[in-house]
Amino acid sequence: MYNHIKVTPNKNNVGAIIEAELSKFNNDIIEDVKDALAEYGVVFFRNQKLDSETYIKFAKQFGPLAEYPMLEGLEGHPEITVVEKKPDEQIMFGEGWHTDSTYTKEPPRFTMLYSVKTPEKGKGNTLFASQYRSYETLDDSMKEKLKDLKAVFSADGPISKTRNNRVKEKGTGIDPKSLSAIHNIIKENERNKKKSLYLSPGHAIKICDVDDEESKKLMKELVEHQTKDEFIYGFEWEPNCLALWSNYSVLHNPVNDFNAHRVMHRITIQ
Ligand SMILES: [Fe+2]
Repeated sequence: MYNHIKVTPNKNNVGAIIEAELSKFNNDIIEDVKDALAEYGVVFFRNQKLDSETYIKFAKQFGPLAEYPMLEGLEGHPEITVVEKKPDEQIMFGEGWHTDSTYTKEPPRFTMLYSVKTPEKGKGNTLFASQYRSYETLDDSMKEKLKDLKAVFSADGPISKTRNNRVKEKGTGIDPKSLSAIHNIIKENERNKKKSLYLSPGHAIKICDVDDEESKKLMKELVEHQTKDEFIYGFEWEPNCLALWSNYSVLHNPVNDFNAHRVMHRITIQ
């Protein structure tokens, strides 16, 4: 199926490891990567030497780059957001299950993280939860119930406190309370029509058109389901790795279990 890359699925089909040399990408490689990404929701590459120009060029193959409303970008390369934890910091940016920027009207379709500095291997992993698997394992009555439901997603949701250290340094001044959006909670991949559950626990604050009690109950039930062990894979970082995921198909959660300098370069794609 893949003629230009080697794809090894992870346990339970939660993401896949790809072997390819990204600094020498071409159309054939990109098409194979897009197929693997649509199939597994998140793909990982190790041992990639990518300078910022090549990284940006590679990212643009997947769509127009998105701007991150909450922080300013890397100097000289505003498309890249530096996602960082310093050795003396307790809170980690983006900690907790979520999918990126769901509080925007058109949330970024894909996110890439390229590792620059990492703690010892096995620490500071990023966990991914497959929302294809999560959707597939809902019973039929729940699938029917969720079919047309929408939810409100806010930048002031539970995850907002993990942003404070970075906002102090590089914040754009936008009030998180001013950013919210309403989206369907079932998504369909346009490449292979696979459905996924789209409910970011870090941002979702209410299910629309049901009363508050029902909304709370349903969100609790869905979040517990979404993050079951069998849907989760933890990627062990080392420098020069790239993770590329669809924000519609997986949730992610960086594990805050280290005191060391961790630096990731993030690009989001519309
Ligand atoms: Fe994130």
